[in-house]
Amino acid sequence: MPEPFDAFRYAHAHRREVVWLSQNTNHLVPPEVVRGALEEAIAERRYEGYPFAAGDPELLDLVREDLGLDGAPPFLTSGGTEALYMTMRALLGPGDEVVASDPSYLIIHRFIELAGAKPVCPDIYRPPYRLTADVVQEQIGPRTKMLLLIDPLNPLGSGYPREEVRALAEIAHDRRLTLINDVTYRDFSEGHALAGTFAPEQTVTIWSVSKNCGLAGMRLGGFSAVPELAKRIARYNTNDLGVNVFAQLAARAALRTKRSWIGEVVRTTRANGARVHDVGRSVPGVTVPIAPSRANMTVLDVGATGIGPEPIQEELLRHHGVFVRAGSYLSPAHGGRFVRISFSNPPAEIERFARAFPETMRTLAARSVPAR
Ligand SMILES: Cc1ncc(COP(=O)(O)O)c(C=O)c1O
Repeated sequence: MPEPFDAFRYAHAHRREVVWLSQNTNHLVPPEVVRGALEEAIAERRYEGYPFAAGDPELLDLVREDLGLDGAPPFLTSGGTEALYMTMRALLGPGDEVVASDPSYLIIHRFIELAGAKPVCPDIYRPPYRLTADVVQEQIGPRTKMLLLIDPLNPLGSGYPREEVRALAEIAHDRRLTLINDVTYRDFSEGHALAGTFAPEQTVTIWSVSKNCGLAGMRLGGFSAVPELAKRIARYNTNDLGVNVFAQLAARAALRTKRSWIGEVVRTTRANGARVHDVGRSVPGVTVPIAPSRANMTVLDVGATGIGPEPIQEELLRHHGVFVRAGSYLSPAHGGRFVRISFSNPPAEIERFARAFPETMRTLAARSVPAR
């Protein structure tokens, strides 16, 4: 039997030729933003020593300022992923339930399960393509301990209006639930509101510099919560010698200057998103459920084309060097009908997608309908 196609292995092996639209990474931050800091760190051989374990003080200040959650000091972890893992381990136990969703960023659900708890996943693949206060109320039962609010939501690119965030925060407050507010993509969302401003005692804010600052390879993120809650989570910290020193210096350099470049990054991202949607709509049978995206990714629904997302992912990657993601790892119920495309990339890379996607769909359609 031939080995199944390993898209990540292939894409990394062809890294220099591949247009990376598969992981919501950001390729638009000017490289000089972090280059100097990293070059200096290499010259000073900072890699030989441990970092200050609690985190670079200026970096911690910059994160606090960037989030604007005064009573919730940031705690650094190796990416938001580690913060999510620690939070679930610390706050959940066997039999607990978490109101989440389908689609969702499913690694978080795995962490919930590792703690012995259960994600409860209302189907949100229909307008408004996000949780609502009513849906959440319906799902809350005697075992519910937590709400998971990913805003904007990976994979759909849907986001929460301020009043809905407030309503969800009030539910968490009134029902004494912890509210996990994963704001990894918040800089892309106009008018974004942090749940921590409405329910500070209940909220754990998960943040990251992977996407807004274009530093995914560095692996730096964290959580912010009021001290009592933060202390419970921090017990599960395994990085007691501190988070990668290069990551901290790069994040510090990026956050020092973020105001001067984030506007342009977001403008280009939005224009790219509109282009991806136009390309999607130009292909017969493909629909765009959520437009505009409030993040730097979107889904194209290919359900009506009869072509599955996996062949689309493979054909685009192998024959056009364009790496998008099949939805299966993001939605048990609907992952078989969408591909996710991220677009914080130079516009020329989006144009490669624009040429490749219609051709890919024609090729696959011709392959699946035998000629008479
Ligand atoms: C919703 C969400 N949370 C967290 C993460 C993890 O980010 P990090 O790179 O900081 O671990 C991702 C990454 O894609 C994400 O989509």
